[in-house]
Amino acid sequence: MSIKVLFVCLGNICRSPMAEAVFQQMVNDAGLADQIKVDSAGTGSWHVGETAHRGTRRVLAQHGIQYNGRARQVSAADMTDPDTWIITMDGENLRDLEERYGRHPRTARLLDYAANTQERSVPDPYYTGNFAYVYQLVSAGCRGLLAAIREENDL
Ligand code: 4NP
Repeated sequence: MSIKVLFVCLGNICRSPMAEAVFQQMVNDAGLADQIKVDSAGTGSWHVGETAHRGTRRVLAQHGIQYNGRARQVSAADMTDPDTWIITMDGENLRDLEERYGRHPRTARLLDYAANTQERSVPDPYYTGNFAYVYQLVSAGCRGLLAAIREENDL
């Protein structure tokens, strides 16, 4: 059985691609790439087909992480698979998905899994420009998320 994780933000060019790349690296390092499939998508369609934002690519490169994905929009198929972990970057993403597709049994905000931070929403660097801070938050959330998935699945 393979576990699926889908990271969701608004545009799928800044935050969720960063989370996808960071989490994929952690999964690879843990030797779990065959068991855990990682992807990302946006609630909006404006940037479909684009590469990740320059700021996201730069901060990933600074940490030695590769990313070659292209933006896509969340689909109904993503939201009908009960075994996919749907991990959003903020509460607005979560509400948008719920309004459009109804409640998915396994949806959470990434920072619900982050230790040592009061933040519950990853601030959008498309507006703030602070990609380094987003990287810190995303890394903390991804670490906690991987621990939760490993625990639940005995991995
Ligand atoms: P993201 O950032 O949701 O982290 O990918 C954004 C990217 C683009 C837009 C908004 C947020 N936009 O309005 O085009």
